[in-house]
Amino acid sequence: MERPSPPGSDPPPTGRITRGTTGLNRLRRSDRWTAHHPDIVRALSDVPQSALAVDVGYGARPDTTLEWAGWLRRTAPTVRVVGLEIDPARVVPGRDGVEFGLGGFELAGLRPNVIRAFNVLRQYDEAEVPQAWATMTARLRPGGRLIEGTCDEVGRRCCWVLLGPEGPISLTLAWAPGHTERPSDLAERLPKALIHRNVPGEKIHEMLALADECWDHAAGFATYGHRIRWRHAAALLAERTDGVARAPRRPLRDNVLTLPWASVAPRT
Ligand SMILES: C[S@@+](CC[C@H](N)C(=O)[O-])C[C@H]1O[C@@H](n2cnc3c(N)ncnc32)[C@H](O)[C@@H]1O
Repeated sequence: MERPSPPGSDPPPTGRITRGTTGLNRLRRSDRWTAHHPDIVRALSDVPQSALAVDVGYGARPDTTLEWAGWLRRTAPTVRVVGLEIDPARVVPGRDGVEFGLGGFELAGLRPNVIRAFNVLRQYDEAEVPQAWATMTARLRPGGRLIEGTCDEVGRRCCWVLLGPEGPISLTLAWAPGHTERPSDLAERLPKALIHRNVPGEKIHEMLALADECWDHAAGFATYGHRIRWRHAAALLAERTDGVARAPRRPLRDNVLTLPWASVAPRT
């Protein structure tokens, strides 16, 4: 079985140490989505050997990796979960069936079915994102997926990109229904590849403006609650984008918007 490098082994992990801020349960919106997404379910289930999931940059405490493992096991009970940290001082002993080790974007030589890197690239430069994505996705097993995203301190607003070996597939925005005024409030939590692109002339800016318009249009449903209002706003957004912005089919606890990457990708 492949093992992550013990602290101190060579070659050095790819990337650099950043702030280790994390928080109990703050990635729950992404975790819920991950556990049900067909690509992830397929990546974890349709595999000849036991599936491997790697969480890159779990921070000062391993809580979010342990929580992620619980969600992934609902889909794949035997999945092996490894948390990697580039800071040797943050590498902790394994716990609850989850392993922890020293590693960076090269994934300590592991070849996972699913990779996650949350609140890691936000502390890098935008220009460093493509290489980091390429280094991680090059390590994916066939059919594998990378989830790379950002959230606020307590996880009320959360955005992530889903990627395969060929590149980015989609952008998902998820937020707590009662804590966000308008969809464009998510802009400050966009992944690094997009956060500086929320400006006139860029697709993400146009999409968020349109989402706000649909949200305003659905104001009449506010008395039924923010979730119901968002369902109507999302359906209108789907209509106005010819189905590009997909309205969730089933009622969800979170307000969620998933967009194909091509509809939000930087123009330059
Ligand atoms: C803000 S914390 C995120 C913790 C957790 N993922 C979360 O979202 O709550 C970012 C962590 O990523 C680590 N990190 C930064 N670059 C990394 C890399 N290339 N490989 C592995 N870890 C990295 C940092 O050392 C830091 O501990």
